[in-house]
Amino acid sequence: MCGIVGYTGQDKAAEILVSGLKRLEYRGYDSAGVALEDRGPDGDAVLDVIRRVGKVAGLESELAARHLPATCGIGHTRWATHGRPTQSNAHPHTSCDGRIAIAHNGIIENFAELREELASRGHVFKSETDTEVFAHLIEEAYEGSAAAGIPATHDLMAAVREACTHVVGAYGLAAVCVDEPGVIAVARKDSPIIIGRGERGSYVASDVIALIDATRDVVVLEDGQFARLAPEGITYTDDQGEQIEPAVTHIDWDVDMAEKGGYPDFMMKEIAEQPRVVRDTLVGRLAGTGELDIDELGLTFEELNLVDRVYVIACGTSYHAGLIAKNLIEGWARIPCEVEAASEFRYRNPIITPSTLVVAVSQSGETADTLAAIRDVRIKGAKVFGITNVVGSPVARESDGVIYTKANKEIAVASTKSFIGQVVSLTLLAMLLGQVKGKLPRGQTRMLFRELGDTAAQIQRILDTRAEAVGQAAAACKDAPSALFVGRGMGAAVSHEGALKLKEVSYLHAEAYAAGEMKHGPIALIDPGFPVIAVATRSAVYDKVVSNLKECEARGAKIIAVATEGDEDIKQIADHVIYIPEVRDAFSAITATVPLQLLAREVALLRGCDVDQPRNLAKSVTVE
Ligand code: M6R
Repeated sequence: MCGIVGYTGQDKAAEILVSGLKRLEYRGYDSAGVALEDRGPDGDAVLDVIRRVGKVAGLESELAARHLPATCGIGHTRWATHGRPTQSNAHPHTSCDGRIAIAHNGIIENFAELREELASRGHVFKSETDTEVFAHLIEEAYEGSAAAGIPATHDLMAAVREACTHVVGAYGLAAVCVDEPGVIAVARKDSPIIIGRGERGSYVASDVIALIDATRDVVVLEDGQFARLAPEGITYTDDQGEQIEPAVTHIDWDVDMAEKGGYPDFMMKEIAEQPRVVRDTLVGRLAGTGELDIDELGLTFEELNLVDRVYVIACGTSYHAGLIAKNLIEGWARIPCEVEAASEFRYRNPIITPSTLVVAVSQSGETADTLAAIRDVRIKGAKVFGITNVVGSPVARESDGVIYTKANKEIAVASTKSFIGQVVSLTLLAMLLGQVKGKLPRGQTRMLFRELGDTAAQIQRILDTRAEAVGQAAAACKDAPSALFVGRGMGAAVSHEGALKLKEVSYLHAEAYAAGEMKHGPIALIDPGFPVIAVATRSAVYDKVVSNLKECEARGAKIIAVATEGDEDIKQIADHVIYIPEVRDAFSAITATVPLQLLAREVALLRGCDVDQPRNLAKSVTVE
C-alpha cells in the first residue's frame, strides 16, 4: 500500500520522482505528491510541496508546467487508509513550520494518542492521516521540545531515528528538511525500502522497479536500519546510530519487464507471459533420478516425512491457488490439507503441532495478514514454507524455506501470471510430499512433471486461438448485473478465481459456487439471460457439472462453458463455449484459469474499465 520514492543528485528531481511514482502506482493511486527543495522569493531554502488527488499523471502535468530546478526531493503515491483521498490527506506531509516533509508507507497504530500528545504541545494538524504525526515527531526531535523533554538534534537522520522510537506500527519513511539541503533520511520497519546509488545520484523507493534504470545493485533495508542519502553517497546506520554495511543485492531482471512490451495493458502482457512462467518455474526441478529438487525448502526429507497436516494460508488470488493445492496435496500425499484466508487464520486458535506444515502463499511477500499468520504459527512451533514472487520479501525472510515463483515483476493489480506461478509451485510441493510419503513413485513423478511442463504449450494454444470465443462470451455478459461461476473439484477452485478476476477488473458483481451447491440457494438468482460461467472440463465429475448446468439452463441462464476440446455435447446446453486442450484433471486449473482471466479483461474493456489499476485496490496489501 502506497509507494515512496526519493532522489538526491545532479539531475532534476521532479522528472525522476514522477517516473519512479508511475512505476509504483500499482501500490496505490488515490493521490500523488512530491516535496522538492527550492529557493523562495528572498533566496531562502524552502520546500515545494505539490499534491494532486488521483493518479500520478495529474501530478506529472502540474510538475511539467512548473519546471522546478530541484535536485533533491521525495514523492508518494497513496492508497488511502486513514483519511479520505483528498489533497490535504495526500503525502508528503509537513511539520508545523513546513521545513520538514515526509513520505510514508505503512500504518501508525498509536497515531491517535501521538496526535493528542502533539496537539497538546501546540502542533497543528493539517490532515486526517496517521502519517502526519511522524512529521511533527521529527520536527520536535530536530528543534527540541522542552514540553516533551526532547533535546534538539539539529540533525535530520538523528531526528528521524528519535521519532521512530515513539511510533508503533509499520513504516517505510523518507524525510527531507530545508536546513539540510540534498539530504534524505530513510527509516524502515515492516514496509519495504530499497536503496540504490547510481552514477548521478542516490535513490530510495518502495520497490526496486522504481530505481532499476539507475542501478541494479541495491540494498534492501532491514527493519530497524536507517539510511542517509546525499548526492555524494549513502550511509547506513542501525537504531543506535552506529554505522553498518548492509549486503548489496544484484537485480538480474530486465527493465523491459516493467514496460508493456507492445501489449495494450499490463494485464494482457502478464497473461501472455504465463507459458514462460510455467517453464521457468520448472527449470532444474527434476533430478535425473526422478526425484524432485526443491533445495531451498529449508526442511529435510525426514522433517517432511513427519508432516501430518498442512495449512495453506493466503489472501485473495493466492488463497485460490491454495484451494487448488489442497486437492493435489490430499490426492498425492494423502496428508490432510486446510486452506484458510490469512485474515481469519491469524485470529483463531488453529491446532498447530511440530508436525504441522504451514504454506504461506503471497505474490508480493508483504501482505500484512499473511505475515502476521506466519509469525503466529512459528511461535506455536509450526514449520513455515513460503511461496512468493519477490526475492528477499518479508514472507521469504520469515519462512523456514521458500519457493520463488518465476513470474517476475507483476504490475497489473489483478494477479494473473503470479497465480499460475503459485499453482505450479504448489503442484511441485504436492508432488514432493507425495514422494517423501512414499505415495508417488518416481516413474509417476516423471510423467506428472512432463505433463505439468506441457501446460506451457497448452496455455499458449489458448492464447493463440481463443480470443474470438472469449470476445463473444464477454459481449454476452458485459451488461449483466451479476454473474455466477460454477464448477466441481478443480473447477470449483478455478471458479473462485474467475469470479474474483471478473469483479475486480470489470466491477460486474460475480460469485463462485460449487456447482452442486446451486440448488441449495443460488439457483434462485437465475432468470432469463443470467450469465452462468461454468468450468466444465472433462473429469470424473464432468457429468455432474453438466446436470447442474441443465438445471440452470432450464431456468433460462445464459451459459458460458470452459470445456475440453472435442466435447461437442456441451454445445447442447452452453450458449458460448471456450475450448481448452485436454489435460489431466490435476493440471486443469492451470489451463482453465486462462480463459477466465481473458474473459474478465475483455468484459472490463467493454465496460470501459482500467484493467491495470481497478478502483479502490492496490497491489500490495500491507494493512490488515
Ligand atoms: O501479494 P499477495 O499474493 O499476498 O496478495 C494477496 C491478494 O491481495 C491478491 O492476491 C489480490 O487478491 C489479487 N491482486 C487479486 O487479483
